[in-house]
Amino acid sequence: GRRVRIHHLRELKERGEPWPMLTAYDMYTAQLFDEAGIPVLLVGDSASNNVYGYESSLPVTVDEMVPLVRAVTRSVKRALVVADLPFGSYQLSPEQALATSVRMMKEGRAHAVKLEGGRAFAPHVRAITQAGVPVMGHIGFTPQSEHNLGGYRIQGRGAAAGDELVADAIALQEAGAFSVVMEMVPAEAAKRVTHELEIPTIGIGAGPDCDAQVLVWQDMMGLRQGKAPRFVKRYADLAGVMTGAVEQFAAEVRGRQFPAPEHVFH
Ligand code: KIV
Ligand code: NA
Repeated sequence: GRRVRIHHLRELKERGEPWPMLTAYDMYTAQLFDEAGIPVLLVGDSASNNVYGYESSLPVTVDEMVPLVRAVTRSVKRALVVADLPFGSYQLSPEQALATSVRMMKEGRAHAVKLEGGRAFAPHVRAITQAGVPVMGHIGFTPQSEHNLGGYRIQGRGAAAGDELVADAIALQEAGAFSVVMEMVPAEAAKRVTHELEIPTIGIGAGPDCDAQVLVWQDMMGLRQGKAPRFVKRYADLAGVMTGAVEQFAAEVRGRQFPAPEHVFH
């Protein structure tokens, strides 16, 4: 294991080899995904919903994110770990964006940071990258702007909106971003952006032509229950597996089948 570096991701794009990215928020998932060869792990602000149980991605704070970032970076040998900047921790100014990124790097030992937004955030991206911190952009549907975007809706539909998406992506690249996530955009627009950019695009609900694909691990493992967006593929039924195990344990305790003789000290 050599560490994954940002230039390796650019080389994969040049070779036309798509790569997988997953979220991780703790030791076991980080170890498992790292050892399975996932090159990039994102400590997403989706921790707001998927770790802390908030109703959206907005409430989670930097103080809540840092220990999760630290747990993930402690647990990987190879993967590049990206720390998401939560809502309110970078929008105020490029200086605030840099200060929060410094916390993610020093306290969380992150290898890169991610923030949401297009052209308007080019100065923020530039301030962070000039300080030596790699930045991943995030455009299309940006969950921190959920209320302004009118809920979870596809973005970049139509020629004009497609042009806006391309302009946003190019502005982020020119500001020094090393990659850009595109969330919930038409496959045609994502393909256009991917061809226009030298840096890799990472899709989530953005079709098959992105340079990489990302999913939230609790969604793709079927741990989160209920209706998932159509871009989520469930690769496992963790909720089913865990519920079965819990029910069996509870039944065996109640039925005095657990502990059995082999679990007992004398
Ligand atoms: O927070 C998150 O999990 C994300 C990914 C969905 C890209 O931003
Ligand atoms: Na996020």
